[in-house]
Amino acid sequence: MPNNENKINAAITAVGMYVPDKVLDNKYFESIVDTNHEWIVSRTGIRERRKLENGATSDLATGAIIDLIKNSNLTPEEIDVIIVATVTPDMFFPPTACIVQNNIGASNSWGFDLSAACSGFLFALRTGASFIESGAYKKVVVVGADKMSSIVDYTDRNTCILFGDAASAVLLEPTTDTSIGLKDSILNIDGSGKDSLYMLGGGSLNPASHETVDNKMHYIYQDGKAVFKVAVKGMADVSVEVMKKNNLTSEDIAYLVPHQANLRIIDATAKRMGITSDKVMINIDKYGNTTAATIPLCLTEYYRAGKLKKGDNLILAAFGAGFTWGASHLVWSMD
Ligand code: COA
Repeated sequence: MPNNENKINAAITAVGMYVPDKVLDNKYFESIVDTNHEWIVSRTGIRERRKLENGATSDLATGAIIDLIKNSNLTPEEIDVIIVATVTPDMFFPPTACIVQNNIGASNSWGFDLSAACSGFLFALRTGASFIESGAYKKVVVVGADKMSSIVDYTDRNTCILFGDAASAVLLEPTTDTSIGLKDSILNIDGSGKDSLYMLGGGSLNPASHETVDNKMHYIYQDGKAVFKVAVKGMADVSVEVMKKNNLTSEDIAYLVPHQANLRIIDATAKRMGITSDKVMINIDKYGNTTAATIPLCLTEYYRAGKLKKGDNLILAAFGAGFTWGASHLVWSMD
């Protein structure tokens, strides 16, 4: 029998974010591809996104962790583990986590990158929480960071309007108050979705060559319609499943914190959960789809705006390439 008396939960005890200054609004896209502001807003909910002009994903992640440190009592030397969720690592190797570790002076930490596309933060949160729950580590930083502009084809109107650059980080620490922190996660992968959303070139399947570049294989490819269909069902199903599993009704939930890929997918998920739009965290209008960064970016912005309080029941939900998807029940732990 598990001994619940000694149970430790992983709680978020600090947050941080970094978004580059450069804004790309929908008017800008009207000037480079055949699109218009009305189409983009009505089909996606996106008005603006950010672009990092100089630097890499590690710079975004470093900025987010520095912001987290500035707004907490954490010192870099105290960090035990750094997990960087990303699909746009600075390089194949070394891991982006190593570059971030060196940038922030986290001299006593280890860490690694985690690749799970738009579900990256949810998967990394579950992973980081397990390190805390096991008692092995006391301070785990989970950062979702993506420089999507590095893999976007700015001549492809189907994808270029969707993505932006950002990073956001959370600190996980142990608590013996098991009413707060990460309570449950349902996470899934299904590789039969691998042909709907991918970047074909540059990996061991198609090493970079003149041919891969000529064929634009170093860019994102997405079958938008196909992904939309499974994302709507997948994100809604798993969100309802995690609610039921944890005996939560829509009244119990303070916020749905959805991955920000498309406002219509988010609305459909909220509807299935019986949640009104005032209980849905949204910032897709300002940042677009920042892949691993969207969920912590929402948490950071809503917390800093005073909209989150200790004890709030949150459902975090994501769907992404792979396919990867899942939902978590998190009880907010900061005043
Ligand atoms: N501006 C104007 N028209 C555009 C356009 C743009 N930026 N992008 C596509 N279109 C056109 C298409 O070419 C198509 O034209 P056609 O009918 O002449 O072929 C038409 O709009 C409709 O395309 P469709 O793909 O049906 O649009 P949609 O309503 O499905 O919206 C997405 C496209 C990409 C916004 C939507 O499919 C989506 O969000 N998909 C899922 C994204 C996601 O969740 N990804 C997973 C996580 S990353």
